[in-house]
Amino acid sequence: MGHQYVHGYHPRENERLHDQAGTLVELLHSDTRYPAGSVVLEVGCGVGAQTLTLARQSPGARFVSVDISADSLAEAERRADLAGLTNVEFRQADIFALPFADGSFDHVFVCFVLEHLTRPVEALPILRRLLRPGGTITVIEGDHGSTYFHPDSAAAQQAIDCLIQLQRMAGGNALIGRQVYPLLREAGFDAVRISPRMVYVDASRHELVDGFTRKTFTAMIEGVREPAVAAGLIEPGTFDAGVQDLHRTTEPDGVFCYTFFKGVAEAT
Ligand SMILES: C[S@@+](CC[C@H](N)C(=O)[O-])C[C@H]1O[C@@H](n2cnc3c(N)ncnc32)[C@H](O)[C@@H]1O
Repeated sequence: MGHQYVHGYHPRENERLHDQAGTLVELLHSDTRYPAGSVVLEVGCGVGAQTLTLARQSPGARFVSVDISADSLAEAERRADLAGLTNVEFRQADIFALPFADGSFDHVFVCFVLEHLTRPVEALPILRRLLRPGGTITVIEGDHGSTYFHPDSAAAQQAIDCLIQLQRMAGGNALIGRQVYPLLREAGFDAVRISPRMVYVDASRHELVDGFTRKTFTAMIEGVREPAVAAGLIEPGTFDAGVQDLHRTTEPDGVFCYTFFKGVAEAT
């Protein structure tokens, strides 16, 4: 835990998470639907960026969305109220000390959370025990090592590496997407299925150029300029050139690619 700039506490970060959610909804969530009557635990809901989509897509399911941050939960609650959602209950809780009995849930949903935990291996068995037999878990994580683009740029890769290193220094793992399968298996889940979700952006995909390349990925990198420079990971000029090169990929001949990993598995 630790990096506020990737955790959703600040207004600008909240905005980024919502831009991200809006742009990626179809790609990441179109196949996530929970049956009426089922009870779903969302862990690490943050400001509710995914909660709104989940609850709207499965109006007959009941969601219990928890996060460790009271500030994020207050914002999530505000947004859920504004959206008129009545099937979500928000609660403050730590993933390592969840106040629920074993077998309480039909489904668990975790998105962009494992990457921030120092002990992701320990979190998943806790979540497995909260599922009834036959219940499912859905885990979605990014992997910054999956980033490539045109025109290529060593400075941009160095700027991205700063975020990877800062997250590692805070105990997290920005490359965790590639480990979703082994982590779920190690936690004792069965029927593990991973589907990589690639975001491919060229100039013909206007919404993604703006919503993903510019406002999600590049904004996230821009957000670590000060800590990266302060930690001595990069020269300010190199960082700025890297960010400029990321923006360059949004021009008419530019291309940007990133892959998310979505895993679904069963508790038996
Ligand atoms: C990057 S945000 C993702 C939020 C949301 N799932 C989304 O996709 O927009 C990670 C969230 O995990 C929460 N978190 C981190 N460690 C946690 C813990 N030990 N228990 C519960 N939540 C935690 C943070 O407070 C933050 O809201």
